[in-house]
Amino acid sequence: MRKFRVGIIGATGHVGQRFILLLQDHPWFELSLLMASPRSKGKTYLEAVGDAWRQDEPMPESVKDFIVYGTDDLALLKDSVDFVFSAVDMKKDAIIQLEESIAKAEIPVVSNNSAMRWTPDVPLIMPEINPGHTKLIEAQRKRLGTKRGFVVVKPNCSIQSYVPALTPLMDYGLEEVFVATYQAVSGAGRRLADWPEMHGNVIPFIGGEEEKSEREPLRVWGEYSGDHIELATKPVISAQCFRVPVEFGHLAAVFVRFKHPIESNDILMRWRNYTSAIEDANLPSAPHPFLHYFEENDRPQPKYDASSQRGMGISIGRLREDPIFDYKFVCLSHNTVRGAAGGAVLTAELLVHQGWLTHAR
Ligand SMILES: NC(=O)c1ccc[n+]([C@@H]2O[C@H](COP(=O)([O-])OP(=O)(O)OC[C@H]3O[C@@H](n4cnc5c(N)ncnc54)[C@H](OP(=O)(O)O)[C@@H]3O)[C@@H](O)[C@H]2O)c1
Repeated sequence: MRKFRVGIIGATGHVGQRFILLLQDHPWFELSLLMASPRSKGKTYLEAVGDAWRQDEPMPESVKDFIVYGTDDLALLKDSVDFVFSAVDMKKDAIIQLEESIAKAEIPVVSNNSAMRWTPDVPLIMPEINPGHTKLIEAQRKRLGTKRGFVVVKPNCSIQSYVPALTPLMDYGLEEVFVATYQAVSGAGRRLADWPEMHGNVIPFIGGEEEKSEREPLRVWGEYSGDHIELATKPVISAQCFRVPVEFGHLAAVFVRFKHPIESNDILMRWRNYTSAIEDANLPSAPHPFLHYFEENDRPQPKYDASSQRGMGISIGRLREDPIFDYKFVCLSHNTVRGAAGGAVLTAELLVHQGWLTHAR
C-alpha cells in the first residue's frame, strides 16, 4: 500500500511524542509534518522539545531536524498531508475551531482531545467496540460541507480498560457499575520526576474525569441513528478517579451488578473467547488478543503489564464474587498508548480499512 502522509498537531507534547514513536516504521503511515504552539514555531523538533522529552525510549534521530510549524498554516498542511492526528492542549472552543477548520480544508482529523466528544455527528471510536459509528461521518460531512474532511475522536483514557472488559458481558443485563480508577501521572502530561507533590501521595481528584468516566461509555455502547448516536441507557456508572504515583498505565477496580444470573466461569469464558468487531480486519496496531486475563492474584500491575501487546492490550485480573455487587475485578490499560496515541493510530487504520480515509492525491 502507498503510505499515507501524516501530520501531528501538538507534536511536542506528551501524546504528540508518543505519536512520533508509534509512527516510526508504521507500515501504512509516514510522518510528514509537525505542528505545535507559537512557542515552538520555526524551531527544529529537538529544539522545541528541549529537555521535555518524556518517553522511556529515546527521541528518534529521523525526527530531530523536522521543523515545527504553527497551526495557522493551513495551506502548508493541505499540501503536505493526507490526514492529521491532533493532541493539543488548548481551550475547548479553540480546539473545535482549529479541528473544524482543518476538516473544512478537506483534511481528516483523528483527535485525542475531548472538545468534540459530544458533538452529535462526530464519531467517538474504540475500534474493537463500535467501529460502525464511523458512519456518522456522512452526516458530519453534510454539516461541514466537505467531501474528504471530517473529525473523528477517541474516548477518554480512563475508560479504556473497563469498557473493553465490560463489553463481552453486556447481554447478561449489566445494570450497575462502580469503578475506581488509579491513573498515572503521564495522563496529566507529567513525569514523576517533575512532580514532587506526587511522591508518596495520592490525589483524590482529576478535573472532569469522573463525569467523562461515567458518561462516555454510554455513547460508545450507543446505537448509530443517522446523524447521532442514541445513548445506551444501561449500565448506570458511578466513578471515582485518583491520581497515583505511577508513570504509565491506568488501573481500574470495577464492581458490577447484572440483571440475569451469571457464573464467574462464564465471565472468564466471555473474556477468553471475545472476538472483537475488527478481528478479521488485521489492522497493524490491533492487539491479539484484545483482552488478557491474569490468573495470578497480584496482576495486572502498571509497571509490568501496561505495555502488554505494545501498549494496546487490555489486562484483567482478580475476578471474584462481591457481597454488595455481584462481582468485582481489576483491569488495566496503557494511558498514552491505548488511551491516547495508539488508540488514535488504530482508529486511523480502521478509517483506512473502511474507506473513509483515502489519499488526498
Ligand atoms: N496524556 C494523556 O495520557 C492523554 C490521554 C488522552 C488524551 N489526552 C489529551 O491529549 C491532548 C494533549 O495532551 P498532552 O498530555 O500531550 O498535553 P501536553 O503534553 O501539555 O502537550 C500539549 C501540546 O499542545 C500544543 N499546544 C498548546 N497550545 C497550542 C496552540 N495554541 N496551538 C497549537 N498547539 C498548541 C503544545 O505545543 P508547545 O509544546 O509548542 O507548547 C503541545 O504540543 C489533551 O487534549 C489531553 O486531554 C491526553
